[in-house]
Amino acid sequence: MNEFEETNKKLWNELTDVHIKSYGVNEFKKGKSTLDKIQLEEIGNVKGKLLLHLQCHFGLDTLSWAREGAIVTGVDFSEKSIEYANQLRKELDIKSRFICCNIYDLKKRLVEKFDIVYTSQGVLCWLKDLNEWAKLIHHFLRPCGIFYIMEGHPITHIFDDTRRGKLEIIYPYFHGKEPTKWDNDYPDYSDETYIPKNSSYQWQWSLNDIINSLIKAGLRIEFMNEFDKLFYKEFPDMKCDENGWWYLLDYRNKIPLMFTLRARKEEKNDG
Ligand SMILES: C[S@@+](CC[C@H](N)C(=O)[O-])C[C@H]1O[C@@H](n2cnc3c(N)ncnc32)[C@H](O)[C@@H]1O
Repeated sequence: MNEFEETNKKLWNELTDVHIKSYGVNEFKKGKSTLDKIQLEEIGNVKGKLLLHLQCHFGLDTLSWAREGAIVTGVDFSEKSIEYANQLRKELDIKSRFICCNIYDLKKRLVEKFDIVYTSQGVLCWLKDLNEWAKLIHHFLRPCGIFYIMEGHPITHIFDDTRRGKLEIIYPYFHGKEPTKWDNDYPDYSDETYIPKNSSYQWQWSLNDIINSLIKAGLRIEFMNEFDKLFYKEFPDMKCDENGWWYLLDYRNKIPLMFTLRARKEEKNDG
C-alpha cells in the first residue's frame, strides 16, 4: 500500500459513517435493491453464478446481487466498510462473503475463480495501475466468465464541477503518472451537508486506458455503452429523475456522463 492509497483509505473509512446514513440503508433493509435496470439487463441472469465485486464499499450492491441469486464475494480496503458490510450480511442473513483487502493484494487472499467480476460507480479514479487491475480481473475470471463495469465517463472529469452554467474545461483528460491531490472543501457526493476532513489522491484514466488495459490482459470487449446521465450529482446544475439518474439538462444527448462495458475471458485464455 503506498502513501497515496493510505491517505485514500483514511478518507473512505471516514466516509463510511457518512454513507451509512445517506445511502438509503433502511430501504435496502426492507428489500429495495440498489441495482438499476441497466446493470440488471446488461449483466443478465446471475442465479447460481459466482460473483466477485471489486471496491464494494459497505456492500449494498454486493448484497443486492446476492438477492438476485449470485454467490457473492465483496472486496474493499476500508476496514470500516467491510465491518459494516459484515454487520448487514449477518443482520439480513444474506449468504455472502466480504474481504478487507487492497485489490492489488487480492491474489494473496483469494484462490477461487469467478463467473462474473463486477465493479461500479466511482472506482477507477482510486486505482494507481489499470494494467495490473485488468490482469487481476483476467486472473479471477473462469474461462468464458464476464467482467462488467458501470462508471462515470472520464470526460466529465475535465470540467469545473463547482460552478453552475456553461461547462468549463479546467482539468486534463489524459492520464498523468502522478495522482492529483484533492483537499476537500467541497461537500460529499451523497451528503451535501458533509465536508470530508481527509484529503484524497486520484488518478485520471482516459477511455483508451480503460479499454486497452482490458484488451492487453486478454479480455474480449463485448460492448461499451455511453449515457447522458449519471448515478450521482457530479455538477451543481444536475437534476434527478424519478429513477435516481442525474442529468445535465442543457447537455442532454450532447455529452456522455457515464459508460458501461462488458468483456469476456475467452475459453482458451485460462490464466
Ligand atoms: C465510490 S466507492 C465504490 C462504489 C460503490 N458502488 C458505492 O458507491 O458504494 C469506492 C470504493 O473503493 C474503495 N477502494 C479505493 N481504492 C481501493 C483499493 N486499492 N483496493 C480496494 N478498495 C479500494 C474505497 O474504500 C471505496 O469503498
